[in-house]
Amino acid sequence: MTVFRIAVVLVVCMFGKAEAEGEVSVGAYLPMTGASATFGVSTWQGIQLAVEQHNAKAKVKVQVKALDTMGKQSGAQAVVTRLADDGVVALIGEVASSLSLAGAAIAQQRGIPMITPSSTNPAITDTGDLIFRACQTDDAQARVMARFARTLKIGSVAILKAPAQAYSTGLATAFETAFKAEGGAIVATQEYTMGAADFEPQLRAIETAKAQWVFVPGYYTDVATLAKQAQQLGIRVKFLGSDGWDSEELGKLAGTALDGSYYINHFAIDDARAATRSFVKAYRTKFKQAPDALAALGYDAANVVLGAIARAKSTSGKHLAEAIRATKLTGATGELAFHAKDQGITKPMVVLKISGGKPAFAASVTP
Ligand code: PHE
Repeated sequence: MTVFRIAVVLVVCMFGKAEAEGEVSVGAYLPMTGASATFGVSTWQGIQLAVEQHNAKAKVKVQVKALDTMGKQSGAQAVVTRLADDGVVALIGEVASSLSLAGAAIAQQRGIPMITPSSTNPAITDTGDLIFRACQTDDAQARVMARFARTLKIGSVAILKAPAQAYSTGLATAFETAFKAEGGAIVATQEYTMGAADFEPQLRAIETAKAQWVFVPGYYTDVATLAKQAQQLGIRVKFLGSDGWDSEELGKLAGTALDGSYYINHFAIDDARAATRSFVKAYRTKFKQAPDALAALGYDAANVVLGAIARAKSTSGKHLAEAIRATKLTGATGELAFHAKDQGITKPMVVLKISGGKPAFAASVTP
């Protein structure tokens, strides 16, 4: 069976009748199942909220069709192709950088503007002039974490990365450069495979290198597994992390194993900005739960696309991309204005500290 056939049509979110006159169709490709499923679910909820608010007022209604990538590169390729064949005018997705890279190549080739809400690898927006992102890049994350680590007087760090993930390798390299530039040293570099059950060899090597802090550019499921194992083995290291840690599952899976660790993110729920507060309120009302960064970035990315559809001369790829590039948006995660070079975003990032298994705001840092 081909991946194309097993791809799941997740939800077709229709406001009014499907294909009604004046209705525009946008595609979303997200990991709704698999090891990063909370990423997809949160992003999709953020998108739904934006679309609902938009359609309540807009003349041209928008429907978003979301397909599940299952967190796999082949899945991303299959569903982006399918959405393009279905005639979507723009694409929102993916979360994981490797999957966004796969989707971006197809989107650019098919002439369909794409915005990734949350993929941070710089190469994604280098794919072409139709590819955008609503978040900071890994270079920004790396600089923020390096500088923050130095304010904690951390002098040496080990790195534990997943070579198969563009996100993990890119961020590891960027962190190493930034941390050294701040006067820090990297005392060990270890590798893991996503989904691994045993991290003991890497943890032992890190222990031997006498590292007290380990930088882990990874996704929440793996981070929880390895932190728990370190705790069970009595290896008393603390961790520094990145946006891929952001999931309510992290604390559930890791318990207290990450207490005292820090990670970077794009959004803090207790941010006092008016746009953040009204987003959090509307999200809580609709979904009866607190939004995470993915939800906020999904909301912002969708609003970029929705605003562009409303302003563009037509829904052609060229016109929509022009309208996206001209966006100035006061979003849930900050002020969005597209940076000329990589079409990325310039806004502050937050550092969260984990205590009792729960993250709390520690600092806001402008990269
Ligand atoms: N930045 C991650 C990537 O590029 C995805 C991510 C963003 C995950 C924000 C969680 C929160 O792969």
